[in-house]
Amino acid sequence: MRKKIVAGNWKMNNDLAQTERLITDLRKQSKTSKAEVMIAPAFTNLWQAYQTLKESSIEVIAQNMHFAENGAYTGEVSASMLKSIGIQTVILGHSERRAYYNETDESLTKKVDAALANDMRIIFCFGEELEDRKSGNEEKIVGDQIKNALFHLKDSAFKNIILAYEPVWAIGTGETASPEQAQDMHKFIRKTLTDEYGSDVSDAVSILYGGSVKPNNAKEIFGKPDVDGGLIGGASLNAEDFFAIVNAF
Ligand code: PGA
Repeated sequence: MRKKIVAGNWKMNNDLAQTERLITDLRKQSKTSKAEVMIAPAFTNLWQAYQTLKESSIEVIAQNMHFAENGAYTGEVSASMLKSIGIQTVILGHSERRAYYNETDESLTKKVDAALANDMRIIFCFGEELEDRKSGNEEKIVGDQIKNALFHLKDSAFKNIILAYEPVWAIGTGETASPEQAQDMHKFIRKTLTDEYGSDVSDAVSILYGGSVKPNNAKEIFGKPDVDGGLIGGASLNAEDFFAIVNAF
């Protein structure tokens, strides 16, 4: 059975006091679903968040990392630094990183390799832009993003990989892919994996949907057979909304 996962991507929100407050609120919520729950606070608050939540069922994860182990990369954080404070999972390839920080298939390949070399789990994000969808190119774009950054990996690497389909036109816009659009793409993604690695691998990989998931649409999206959870931005900044999504399974 594939894992169900709901991960909150806090992006560049919440200073230390706000992080502590939101975590306090999250701990008051009760989980009625089997979904694994993760939150990704900013780098500056990871240590505190991890210390507070390490005995809980909420995993604290990172939003990004550099591909090098260490060295002259001012402003960057490595996989081993994250591991050294207890962080086991990292989001890579978010569309905001691709758009604003020039992350490419090449740099993401290096990040994927560095995370796996450090025995980390990866939430690997990808998705098409609005023009790609309008021109009917969404499967080609998504297929290439997956192949270019992941298809050099061995089968065994996929036990540490979670995929997150996030159509760029649905992120932070209030516009969601319809549950059918999400299912169609997730099915395509799983088939792309099956064609390369076989169904033992593809059936075990969790594929999350991200893009304006809210308490009022989560149940329908999560009800689709190839949707194994969500990567939640805006709605993860409110504990009740986030847990309403977690409990939508
Ligand atoms: P959103 O963000 O839920 O605010 O659309 C999703 C994401 O960027 O992961």
